[in-house]
Amino acid sequence: ERSSNVQTRPPVVTIMGHVDHGKTSLLDKIRETKVANGEAGGITQHIGAYHVKTDRGVITFLDTPGHAAFSAMRSRGAQATDIVVLVVAADDGMMPQTAEAIDHARAAGTPIIVAINKMDKPSADPDRVLNELTTKEVVSEEWGGDTPMARISAKTGEGIDDLLEFISLQAELMELEAPLDGAAQGVVIESRLEKGRGPVVSVLVKKGTLKQGDLVLAGEHYGKVRALTDENGQRVKSAGPSIPVEILGLPETPAAGSEFLVVTDEKKAREVAAFRTNR
Ligand code: GTP
Ligand code: NA
Ligand code: MG
Repeated sequence: ERSSNVQTRPPVVTIMGHVDHGKTSLLDKIRETKVANGEAGGITQHIGAYHVKTDRGVITFLDTPGHAAFSAMRSRGAQATDIVVLVVAADDGMMPQTAEAIDHARAAGTPIIVAINKMDKPSADPDRVLNELTTKEVVSEEWGGDTPMARISAKTGEGIDDLLEFISLQAELMELEAPLDGAAQGVVIESRLEKGRGPVVSVLVKKGTLKQGDLVLAGEHYGKVRALTDENGQRVKSAGPSIPVEILGLPETPAAGSEFLVVTDEKKAREVAAFRTNR
């Protein structure tokens, strides 16, 4: 019998794919906001983390940039995640970062769901996409393979319900669970220095519950959590498993991909941080 402390947790889904194939637009449509328009030149340069409530429960999404220069972020994204949604523009087909994203997902052992996007365009050719993906051994369920593929438009919203359904079915199969109570552990998604706020560290909680006032050790740095904010900038008191949150209170910016954990003993935190710094 499992501990009553262990509960079903939301799936963490990373959106990957070639530049401009519509990853951020898809997330915008799911969230019904306008992040892509707010980006400098519509180019994603960081990993954005969001959680949304759907009819089938909470899903956490990580957005990644499609530019060639951001391979490391895609690699980290694939590792921090349960499911990869691979966005392929139906008018453009498989491109270098599409293939690279498949490789990252495979290396991390993460199941792939394909979103064939821009179906609203007259030049959309989904069969060509299915064909090209078979060259990377990603074969649609329609063609006897094991990869669910949804034909969608991030512009009109067509097919997005199918995609969310595929995500939920995959998540159910995986029986994702995590303890809700106890000291939080997780991974740093990204961190940055903000004028007036200091180091702002985006983390994804993997188990336990992260709370304001917790002493956090992240990579080579430790500090007391002064404030927690969600992806909309709203203050929150705590964050449980699979929930992304920004923390203030660390003295510096730990590297993206670093593990973090809540510790009780400040002396121990100092020792581990010093050990890691001198390694
Ligand atoms: P990077 O983060 O830079 O890799 O790009 P991205 O994959 O996030 O693409 P983004 O959402 O920025 O969209 C790129 C362009 O494609 C924008 O001009 C969008 O408006 C357009 N676009 C995205 N999805 C669709 C769609 O379903 N249909 C049409 N017609 N245009 C789309
Ligand atoms: Na873009
Ligand atoms: Mg983007």
